[in-house]
Amino acid sequence: MFPKTNFTQTKAYNYLSDHLVEIADQHLRSMFNKDTERFAKFSIQFNDILVDYSKNRITDKTMALLIQLANECGLKEAIEAMFNGEKINATENRAVLHTALRNQSNTPVLVDGKDVMPDVNKVLAHMEQFSEAIISGEWKGYTGKEITDIVNIGIGGSDLGPVMVTEALKPYKTRLNAHFVSNVDGTHIHETLKGLNPETTLFLIASKTFTTQETMANAHTARNWFLGHNGKEEDVAKHFAALSTNEKAVKEFGIDPKNMFEFWDWVGGRYSLWSAIGLSICLSVGFDSFAELLSGAHEMDNHFRNTEFEQNIPVILGLIGVWYNNFFEAETNAILPYDQYLHRFAAYFQQGDMESNGKHVDRNGEIVNYQTGPIIWGEPGTNGQHAFYQLIHQGTKLIPCDFIAPAQSHNPIGQHHTFLLSNFFAQTEALMNGKTIDEVVEELKASGKSDEEIDSLAPFKEFEGNRPTNSILVKKITPKVLGSLIAMYEHKIFTQGVIWNIYSFDQWGVELGKQLAGNILPELKGKEPVSGHDSSTNGLINQYKNWKE
Ligand code: F6P
Repeated sequence: MFPKTNFTQTKAYNYLSDHLVEIADQHLRSMFNKDTERFAKFSIQFNDILVDYSKNRITDKTMALLIQLANECGLKEAIEAMFNGEKINATENRAVLHTALRNQSNTPVLVDGKDVMPDVNKVLAHMEQFSEAIISGEWKGYTGKEITDIVNIGIGGSDLGPVMVTEALKPYKTRLNAHFVSNVDGTHIHETLKGLNPETTLFLIASKTFTTQETMANAHTARNWFLGHNGKEEDVAKHFAALSTNEKAVKEFGIDPKNMFEFWDWVGGRYSLWSAIGLSICLSVGFDSFAELLSGAHEMDNHFRNTEFEQNIPVILGLIGVWYNNFFEAETNAILPYDQYLHRFAAYFQQGDMESNGKHVDRNGEIVNYQTGPIIWGEPGTNGQHAFYQLIHQGTKLIPCDFIAPAQSHNPIGQHHTFLLSNFFAQTEALMNGKTIDEVVEELKASGKSDEEIDSLAPFKEFEGNRPTNSILVKKITPKVLGSLIAMYEHKIFTQGVIWNIYSFDQWGVELGKQLAGNILPELKGKEPVSGHDSSTNGLINQYKNWKE
């Protein structure tokens, strides 16, 4: 049973509200000074991943109360409901089973009494066979040449996951060049096709629904481009594949059903990189690496499902996020990877987190009277340090940050990785400790400043510190580690959705945008002015009509 508790009405919530008063005055610096065991107590190692959450504004009591909160909200039951295929995405009447896609132990997973694993394994085998044929060059294009380039056409979950993983795992790249087109802005497909040869290009049309405007527009343009370059209708089969749940629409588009890779309505778009949507990943890094990615995620799934909350990484990260979001009133959460290959990681979890938990109606249909999902943002370090870290260090907002770094680089060139990691360690230490006014005065004295200069400069150079971070240090970004990391964040998001009592697996807010754009589309044709909207929208549309070609 999926619980429906208002977490603000739990005992733990009341205790946490009182406890906040105790914590608010405590500085992390003194918490570390008082307790030399803090790191040992508040860090967990899971395979090649070390999660250090000790630099958070928490004590033993905070963690015990947060875990009590999770228990009162029925988190354990909710986890079981998800893994067991209950229809926890109630507003769409669907199960939520991205975990089945990576269920490497192959135990039966039932939806409406039917085990989904045989179908999952069948599609995986098809992906393996297809990607091997393309990578090996056995598959030939319409003029008998090997495929050299693949273009994934999709948007949202049908794009962000494949792009993020393909970038993150570039060191494992096959001989194929991967391209991704998502934006309906014609510039995106134009710039992508410009450098490509239709004889050696394979298009993957990635769309769960196969109706998304952006994707279908780009898919038709790609098809026209192909046909306009001497490709024939009968050649489309060699150059187009579909990743979708909608067989009828795929057939109508003209893609050979043999080149269709199926998935199911119990795979959410933003949780779909593990499904057929991951075909561009298989082609980019090889099926073996894709299988490793799945196995890393599966290990995290087992950890999440079977580990007591005190040692459960996604649960702990989720609860600490609730602590800041609902008690400290933090509004955002930064994800800061110290790894260039992870440069799309934050963008990926913008959708993962914000489309999942950006909701204001609870599971009882009531408007919530508390905050739900945070704003997710971030960029790779050290670029961020030279851009927005100033505000994190000395601004007026509390911004909990996740710092992520690998101990081993795929490119150990000179001192680069040591420089990078010295920044990773230094930043979290500085955010936690800050710099006291006495330290600033000492420093200024040592640099030869006069007393007068010290008096005027010191306030600006003081850092209050006490700014919370999680440090996620991994051995190396391998496919397996990446799979575990992604699953870790997915389950963190799930945990928070349960506490906030919201439906994390629908996205009605996005559907509205699709509908509205569809209504305006016919009005943009022709020159006659429109008058049916508010004055701003009418004014903008009419100016557009004046200016358009
Ligand atoms: O952004 C909204 C959304 O519905 C996402 O959930 C989904 O990932 C994306 O659109 C693309 O949808 P589709 O895969 O059906 O084209």
